[in-house]
Amino acid sequence: MSTRTLITGGLVITAAEEVHADVLIEDGRIAALASAGTQEWSADRVLDATGKYVIPGGVDAHTHMEFPFGGTFSSDTFETGTRAAAWGGTTTIIDFAVQSVGHSLREGLDAYYAKAAGKCAIDYGFHMIVSDVDESSLKEMDGLVGEGVTSFKLFTAYPGVFYSDDGQILRAMQKGATNGALIMMHAENGIAIDVLVRQALARGETDPRHHGEVRRALLEAEATHRVIQLARVAEAPLYVVHVSAEEALAELVAARDKGLPVFGETCPQYLFLSTDNLAEPDFEGAKYVCSTPLRPREHQAALWRGLRTNDLQVVSTDHCPFCFTGQKELGRGDFSKIPNGMPGVENRMDLLHQAVVDGHITRRRWIEIACAAPARMFGMYGKKGTIAPGADADVVIYDPAAEQVMSAATHHMNVDYSAYEGRRVTGRVETVLSRGELVIDQREFTGRAGHGAYVSRGMTQYLG
Ligand code: URP
Ligand code: ZN
Ligand code: ZN
Ligand code: ZN
Repeated sequence: MSTRTLITGGLVITAAEEVHADVLIEDGRIAALASAGTQEWSADRVLDATGKYVIPGGVDAHTHMEFPFGGTFSSDTFETGTRAAAWGGTTTIIDFAVQSVGHSLREGLDAYYAKAAGKCAIDYGFHMIVSDVDESSLKEMDGLVGEGVTSFKLFTAYPGVFYSDDGQILRAMQKGATNGALIMMHAENGIAIDVLVRQALARGETDPRHHGEVRRALLEAEATHRVIQLARVAEAPLYVVHVSAEEALAELVAARDKGLPVFGETCPQYLFLSTDNLAEPDFEGAKYVCSTPLRPREHQAALWRGLRTNDLQVVSTDHCPFCFTGQKELGRGDFSKIPNGMPGVENRMDLLHQAVVDGHITRRRWIEIACAAPARMFGMYGKKGTIAPGADADVVIYDPAAEQVMSAATHHMNVDYSAYEGRRVTGRVETVLSRGELVIDQREFTGRAGHGAYVSRGMTQYLG
């Protein structure tokens, strides 16, 4: 039995255009758009979006649900994390499956398929973290690409955990150049950082703010430069995750000015928060410990500029929540033991709308960096990231005038603090559809665990 839903009277905003249009949804897909009021479509359900925006559901290309780090696991499960994502207007996440050292990619990916199966409120895909680059994992990459895992994350950070050396990175990039996979790099010089960590602790510098100090911007820039050169040698495209330092962005800009296929993402925490937060007293700074770290406020202007000039293409959250009580507290007296990561999957669409209100980006750029570009970057544009006939009906009715105050008391993420506690923003998600089903209906959760489906992704569509 087919269900027809009609959304009337809203301003439909995609990365390409803004039109006052009615949207017809049939069998979970966008069936047609027509100028407001010009068609007499019949429907089982009519949603009135007068005075509201009608936008594609957000695509968050960087989340970590139930992620193992520092002897604990991030506090959102696939169930709680995807529900919170839906509340925040995100209808697709790409999470990171993890290969453990000494185990196969297959084992790591299967464990994540199992964690997510039957749990998600919205659709999900996987990147694969490669912790052990060797002959057999390189061979396995081909098979994973075939099942829609078309991007792989490697690290120049975290020696002894996720770290790969330059030779391993080069080999993975060479593999990407032949099988079409996109290599994603966490670019920080982890070897040098570990020396600075030991020296800081020896000086008695144990507070959270020292996390930001030892993870020097120059060491992000150095690693960014290095992985760009390795990608050039491998003749492979490159995606640098969570860019936070102006100096690192400058390396991306220089590469892109040479015409190289080098891409970058930043995250809301680098655009809205700073080392001031890391310096909050009474260990509160631990709430803001993530890597790459928050930077001094002066870096933000460069990041906003990069988003406007398309030197940065994507804003993802790097959602990796750890509760303050019992998890962040593992690092009291030693900042290097604070689990790295921050919550934010629920906040991204709203914070970026606030950036529209503040004049940092345009409305269409908002949709580009939060919906269309991540879908295109990771091989699912057309199905995700836009409102056009044939696309999945992942649609958000967004009230651009509603005021809200972000708070742990009202958010839906399974974490005991908000990184944006007390922040006032203009704009709020009202209704969310995932493949035509109501997940949020006028600020009420009507979705269910298990509605969300695995998205098998194609190759990056960002190379034309
Ligand atoms: O601090 C962070 N970003 N934690 C998640 C792991 C990563 O490096 O993305
Ligand atoms: Zn094994
Ligand atoms: Zn990372
Ligand atoms: Zn991450």
